Amino acid sequence: MRRRLIVGNWKMHKTASEAAAFVHRLAELAPAVGATGSTERVEVVLAPPFTALHAAAQAAAPSFPFTLAAQNLFWEEHGAFTGEVSAPMLKDLGCQAVILGHSERRQLFGDRDEGINKKIRAALRHGLRPILCVGESLADREAGLTESVVTGQLAKCLDSLSADDLLKLTIAYEPVWAIGTGRAATVAQAAAVHETLRTVLATGWKREAGQQVRILYGGSVTPENAGAFLASPQIDGALIGGACLDPHSFATILALAQALPA
Ligand code: 13P
Repeated sequence: MRRRLIVGNWKMHKTASEAAAFVHRLAELAPAVGATGSTERVEVVLAPPFTALHAAAQAAAPSFPFTLAAQNLFWEEHGAFTGEVSAPMLKDLGCQAVILGHSERRQLFGDRDEGINKKIRAALRHGLRPILCVGESLADREAGLTESVVTGQLAKCLDSLSADDLLKLTIAYEPVWAIGTGRAATVAQAAAVHETLRTVLATGWKREAGQQVRILYGGSVTPENAGAFLASPQIDGALIGGACLDPHSFATILALAQALPA
């Protein structure tokens, strides 16, 4: 069984002091709604903005462990790249994972599959676990292109990676039309795409990759619908935007994940 994974992508929200307050509050609140700090069955990942990573790490309590993730990186280690942040810099701050290829980066900041591939390699070289996002636009879905778009993104972003590399990766399926819209995919729509992605991993790399890589769903996940997504055997967890910013709603989702049978 793959361990469930709940990722909070804070996007461009919370200052460093707000991040510290959030982490303290989450650790206080979580047991009250039934979430434990145990990471045995559910891994919790928090992805604050760069400027709040250190504060979030400092605020962590031993009773409520989480994995710290960044939301992006640049593939070079250092140099004249104004405004960019490298994998060794993130690693030194205590990050263990990094979200790459988010659709907001693709749409607003020009991230392309080839560059995302370089970012994944840089992350792996420095011991950061990549969380790779893929997903189709509404126009793609309406044109019946969902499968070809997401498998195309997967193939290009994972080009030349070894099967062992793949085992360190997490994939997040985030349909662009479901992000921040309140219009989540149905469990069946998400499960169908997850199955396709898993088949590509197993046939393009090796069977273990298809079996072991965790595939998350993201797009308007809330405390109301999270239980249904997480109960699907195809869905190993959730990548959460809006609903992760409030400690109560995030803790509620964690509790739902922990209450499910293994
Ligand atoms: P929402 O949960 O706000 O739809 O955002 C999803 C997302 O983009 C997480 O990366």
